[in-house]
Amino acid sequence: MDRIVLVTGGSSGLGKAVAARFRADGDTVFVTGRDAGRLGRAAAEIDARPIACDATDPGQVARLADELGPDLDVLVNMAGRNTDLDDDSPAEGLEGVLAAWRANLDANLLSAVLTTTAVRGKLRPGGTIVNVGSIGAEYASSSYGAAKAALAAWTAGLSSEVGPKGVTANLISPGYIADTDFFHGKLSEQRREALIDATHNGRAGRPADIADTTFFLASAGARHITGQTLHVNGGAHTTR
Ligand SMILES: NC(=O)c1ccc[n+]([C@@H]2O[C@H](COP(=O)([O-])OP(=O)(O)OC[C@H]3O[C@@H](n4cnc5c(N)ncnc54)[C@H](OP(=O)(O)O)[C@@H]3O)[C@@H](O)[C@H]2O)c1
Repeated sequence: MDRIVLVTGGSSGLGKAVAARFRADGDTVFVTGRDAGRLGRAAAEIDARPIACDATDPGQVARLADELGPDLDVLVNMAGRNTDLDDDSPAEGLEGVLAAWRANLDANLLSAVLTTTAVRGKLRPGGTIVNVGSIGAEYASSSYGAAKAALAAWTAGLSSEVGPKGVTANLISPGYIADTDFFHGKLSEQRREALIDATHNGRAGRPADIADTTFFLASAGARHITGQTLHVNGGAHTTR
């Protein structure tokens, strides 16, 4: 097709797989990330257009919106990470708690809010917004899970705002997906096995599972699906 697609966090893992899926269909695909070198290499590999941008920085997001053309058909807010997995040791006491929670809210909630706010006016009728949450939102004892739960709640309201313009907004909530940089090599084999054991189909998710679901949500067959959370987790969390 000849759609214009923006995938934030498109330099690695799920975002790169999503970008490649749309590009394989002939769409024009913009990808973002903070590390310009890695972004450039990924974009060259999948024939996408790189725009370096930290989705938590309002100035950079405004520049991203300026660099995109006037029109957009698909926005995928993939940029996100569990900041609790960063190497820097957290400050102590309540100041530390505050900083840690703000980091995850910035990375996973406000990143999507800022990008969507900056570019939503470009979305053409028939367009779609896909936010990316996490199965962690269902067991939100962490700031990461709470941020992803808030993202899901915000997506439902966003759907009601963009719906009258012929645009859909949904959230994909992945379970454990292998072959990404999400865990920075910190996932123990025991924990990995437990995550796979929790599924009904006995396997880890693959980036293609998320890419194909995102592609479907942007397709003509999904026009009446909006305001929803779609769980892609092999049954590790069921909605009933
Ligand atoms: N893998 C899983 O098991 C899993 C499960 C549930 C949900 N998720 C969610 O899926 C999304 C993608 O994760 P992944 O597994 O593909 O991890 P990944 O391989 O680490 O990819 C994350 C991507 O986001 C970019 N990014 C991170 N923070 C950013 C920011 N502030 N601004 C712009 N780009 C940013 C990264 O590039 P830079 O570092 O260069 O910025 C990278 O391109 C995340 O939202 C994650 O929370 C993943």
